[in-house]
Order: sequence, then C-alpha cells, then structure tokens
Amino acid sequence: ADVTVVVVGSCMTDLVSQAPRLPKAGETVHGHKFFIGFGGKGANQCVQASRLGAKTAMVCKLGQDVFGNNYLQNFKDQGVTTDFVSQTGEAATGAASIIVNDQGENAIVIVAGANLLLDVEDLKKASLAISTARVLVCQLEITPAVSLQALKMARNSGVRTIFNPAPAAAELDPEFYSSSDVFCCNESEAELLTGFEVTDEEMAGKAAVVLLSRGCHSVIVTLGVKGCLMVSVQDATPKHIPVGSVPAVDTTGAGDSFVGALAFFMAHVPDLPLEEMARRSNQIAAVSVQAAGTQTSYPSRDALPHELFEAGSQ
Ligand code: RIB
Ligand code: NA
Repeated sequence: ADVTVVVVGSCMTDLVSQAPRLPKAGETVHGHKFFIGFGGKGANQCVQASRLGAKTAMVCKLGQDVFGNNYLQNFKDQGVTTDFVSQTGEAATGAASIIVNDQGENAIVIVAGANLLLDVEDLKKASLAISTARVLVCQLEITPAVSLQALKMARNSGVRTIFNPAPAAAELDPEFYSSSDVFCCNESEAELLTGFEVTDEEMAGKAAVVLLSRGCHSVIVTLGVKGCLMVSVQDATPKHIPVGSVPAVDTTGAGDSFVGALAFFMAHVPDLPLEEMARRSNQIAAVSVQAAGTQTSYPSRDALPHELFEAGSQ
C-alpha cells in the first residue's frame, strides 16, 4: 500500500533520568531510574501515526553510529518505511538528555547532530512519497529551511500539511504559516510566537487568532491537562476541546502523540471535522502520559476504543 503519512523531521536518542525534581544550576540530585529510548519529535509523531494504522515514511538523517543503527532498526520494528532514512559519518545521531520529575514534568537538552544535515537533496529523493502522501508533517528539530521546503513541496502537490513549530523559536519564516493547513503548537510556543502571555484558555484563544491571521488554515494550541483549543478560517471563534484528567507519569512527547494522531486522522478519516479529530487526538495523547518514555508509551490501535476510529462524530 502507498504511504499515507510522511514525516520530514528528527530522530533523537532519549537519555532519560527520572528524579524527584529537576536540578537547579550547579546542583546534583539523586535520580531513581535511567533508561534510553527512541525519541525526537519527528520520529515520535511518525511512530504514533504508524501505531494507529497509517502507512508511514520517515525522511530523516541518522549518524553512522550505534545509536543510528539502533534507530534504523526501531523504524523497521515499528513498520515505518525507511527508504528515506539515511546515515551520515559527518555528525552523531541526535541525542536528548531528559530529566523527568515526580510530577511527570520534564526538562530537555537536545543536540540535533545529524538531524541538521538533512538537506534539500534528501527531500528530492523522497519527492515522490512527499507529493503522493495524504498528509505531511514537519517540526523544528531539523534545519528550518528544509522543513519549509518540505511543506511547500507537499502543498504544491495538494498534500495536507501539519506544522508543529517545536521546539519553540521566536523567529519563524512567515512562509511557515502560509504553508500550513494545520499549525499545531503548545502554550509556550504560542507565547513565543505571539508575545502574548498564554496563561489560560482565553489568552491561548487570542494567540491562536493571531497565528491564524498569519496565513494558516487552522490553528490548534495544545494545553496539556486542559486539552486543546482550535480556530480555523471557517470559524475564527476559539473552540476549547477539553480532555478527561488522567494520572501523569511522564508527559514527555505527549504533544508528539497528539500531532501523530492528528496526522493519522487527517489521512485516514479526512471527512471528520477538525474539532473531532482534535478531540480524539487529545484522548490518545492522554494515554501516552500514563506511561514512561515517548514512543514506548504511545498506544496502538488495538489498545484504544474502536469508536476512536469510526467515520462519524461521537
Ligand atoms: O517531544 C519530545 C521529544 O523532544 C523527545 O523525544 C526528545 O527527543 C525531544 O526531541
Ligand atoms: Na509518556
């Protein structure tokens, strides 16, 4: 079957320490658990879409090292097409040092490494897959110009695009907005991009309206335990979409679970209203926060209520 969701983005090896709290500058704290996982926003989103049943392809760059070799195998294990995954000897596989506290909150340092060497040549090699996909997804852990080029390639072929401007950057090429069908960010990204203090739903709504006015078709701002909020060209009144509360073990990558799920719904249940897709994606991301890690915590289709996959609104 043909690829339905293409992700052009990052892969990181996540080096995760669980500790009672995040250390302050100059401080050492005792943690209680360490593990290594497969992460990176792009790959996380791709794996979540794949678990839900999308036929996915990842366009990314790994290092020629143990982490890179293991990551390539991970994609194969997850059923992600690896035709456009390449390895370079010029830089190390991306790595993320992550600390998770007992509240499930995190602090992360990423060293993007090989991710930054993904270039326009790599996009050309994947151009057939990009232009025939149903949905293309990009983030900001690779060279921004490469993300933008991928979005434009997809757009020019009538492929729907999701752009997740993460991690947050204050300066964003305005073309990112006009190249995004769905611009999906979290509160802190919305804050950086608009200069608004996004402390509540009302401010998130105001920020979303500003982002929408920059040229995207729809904007979704994820709000953690409060679910998300959306606006679109058809209806610019902010709509809050709540989610049931769940006990959080590890919220790392919950936003990626949301974006990956959204990509799946846009590709496979395209006639569903975006609001309903967001509501279902909220539920899937809420499952992910209840287990440790990113990809390890993402639910598969068979672990979820079948209503989530029905064609009509619930
Ligand atoms: O969004 C979560 C991801 O951000 C982690 O997997 C880590 O790799 C960082 O890129
Ligand atoms: Na998790």
